[in-house]
Amino acid sequence: MNILIFGATSGIGRAIAKQYVSQGHKVAVTGRRQEKLDEIKAENPSAYLTIRHNIRDLNETPEIISHAAKTLGTIDLIIVNAGIGKFNLDLDWDVCESVLKTNIMGVTKALIDSFNYLKKQGKGHLVNVSSVASLLGNGANPSYNASKAFQANFMEGLWLKAQKSSRTNISVTDIRPGFVDTKLAQGETFWKADVDKAAQQIVKAIYKKKKVAYITRRWILVAWLLKHLPAFLLKRF
Ligand SMILES: NC(=O)c1ccc[n+]([C@@H]2O[C@H](COP(=O)([O-])OP(=O)(O)OC[C@H]3O[C@@H](n4cnc5c(N)ncnc54)[C@H](OP(=O)(O)O)[C@@H]3O)[C@@H](O)[C@H]2O)c1
Repeated sequence: MNILIFGATSGIGRAIAKQYVSQGHKVAVTGRRQEKLDEIKAENPSAYLTIRHNIRDLNETPEIISHAAKTLGTIDLIIVNAGIGKFNLDLDWDVCESVLKTNIMGVTKALIDSFNYLKKQGKGHLVNVSSVASLLGNGANPSYNASKAFQANFMEGLWLKAQKSSRTNISVTDIRPGFVDTKLAQGETFWKADVDKAAQQIVKAIYKKKKVAYITRRWILVAWLLKHLPAFLLKRF
């Protein structure tokens, strides 16, 4: 299988890429940090294609996909994983704008270009890494949770679109991790999953072509509570 992962120079994306390479697949990874891309390439030069790309450079995204497709032959699976999240206790606009540019503008453009590529190809699997954060607001970081809510909703739209198209065979999966031990998960949190364990469960959920998958699985319970608890109890959570 040939795979393209947007945002795989560290954390969850890098761990997913590693899992696929260990299973014998070829993986194209993107990100802004050239030194990380070089490190990944050196790990296994024949399995990785590394492409420097800032997901905010919206016009470049189709080129990145066609470069990966030309080099690998085809792309069977595209995972959009790039994302940022910073605490924004002072509700600073610059922090908020930065999150919107990456997590909404950049990610949406990557999802649209990827979906259209797979549609033209007639088949394939599109995955986005949103978050359990998509299910609730967050006073410490409002734009991050809101951006993830946008992504989850957008993915549902793409899933519906894929279901309706009888001429193509496209699967759509929304991955919703809880806390995973990466540099993005700041501060003291509970249930922080090991990144390799999270990646393993993500790869399994993709294999099963799930519509939505909570990572790790215990977050299914939290998701259920978030959907059903009354507001006064949610405030404590
Ligand atoms: N860790 C958690 O607890 C958690 C929970 C739920 C969801 N998530 C989601 O999981 C995804 C991965 O996060 P992580 O925890 O693994 O954090 P991470 O280690 O910081 O990884 C983020 C990845 O996104 C890439 N990225 C960020 N901005 C980019 C840009 N403008 N253009 C291209 N690539 C960009 C980074 O690459 P460069 O810096 O090299 O560009 C990096 O490879 C994110 O979407 C995050 O929201 C994480």
